[in-house]
Amino acid sequence: MAHNREAECEPRCYTSVRTGSAALTHFSCFSFTVFIAVLSRPGTSWFSWHPFFMTLAFSFFMTEAILLFSPYGSLIKRFPHKTKGRAHWILQCLCACCAVLGVAAISYNKHLNGKPHFTSWHGLLGLFTVCVLGVQSVAAVPLIYHSLAKGWSLAKLKRYHAASGLVTYLLGSVSLLLGLSSAWFTASVRGYTWYLSALCPALSTLVMMSQVSRAYMAKKRLHS
Ligand code: HEM
Repeated sequence: MAHNREAECEPRCYTSVRTGSAALTHFSCFSFTVFIAVLSRPGTSWFSWHPFFMTLAFSFFMTEAILLFSPYGSLIKRFPHKTKGRAHWILQCLCACCAVLGVAAISYNKHLNGKPHFTSWHGLLGLFTVCVLGVQSVAAVPLIYHSLAKGWSLAKLKRYHAASGLVTYLLGSVSLLLGLSSAWFTASVRGYTWYLSALCPALSTLVMMSQVSRAYMAKKRLHS
């Protein structure tokens, strides 16, 4: 509600820029996921599943799960907030499942090849990110079953959930960027393709940060 009221009283050029960046984010997170899938060819090796599932989880499902609350870029803008909440947790469950499968695939691949685990910054931060995603998902359960968090107002729970969700998103994007710096990816692409690929998580992170911070700043303004 606060989102929509805010969108209504904003100058038209701002609205166009925000609508444009949301549309670009839909396009870039989808194309980036397809690009990584084409490059890694899932199913050709155990390794191939890792970039595929991780990109599907963090670039596609997680971005779409947040973007559906955007007053400018939601694909289900006209639906009630309850429906958006339900779609959000379904997409986040898919994100968590893909993340677990992606880490399992790379760990098993390393085990098969007798290689040591979690030796790079990407591996370490990636593991931490997936653990944070797990905690974030469990901590979100009281938003559905409010009686589990006695003494916490729903508004407060939502605020904490949004802030920690943004941190999880940031961690996911940095892990993706470190994945793009891996020997496998840098050897697979040439020239500007690397920069263009890195631009996708970078752009969507900026759009997510702007969306979430504006939504909660607008609420604060309305309450003060
Ligand atoms: C948010 C997304 C990602 C997360 C959370 C993540 C997580 C991880 C983890 C935990 C490992 C270490 C597994 C082990 O040592 O047993 C790893 C390894 C690896 N990942 Fe990712 N990954 C992500 C995205 C990507 C992407 C997009 C690529 C490629 C473009 C990639 C390429 C690699 C490679 C080549 C390795 C093996 C070398 C190494 O350990 O650094 N990852 N990843």
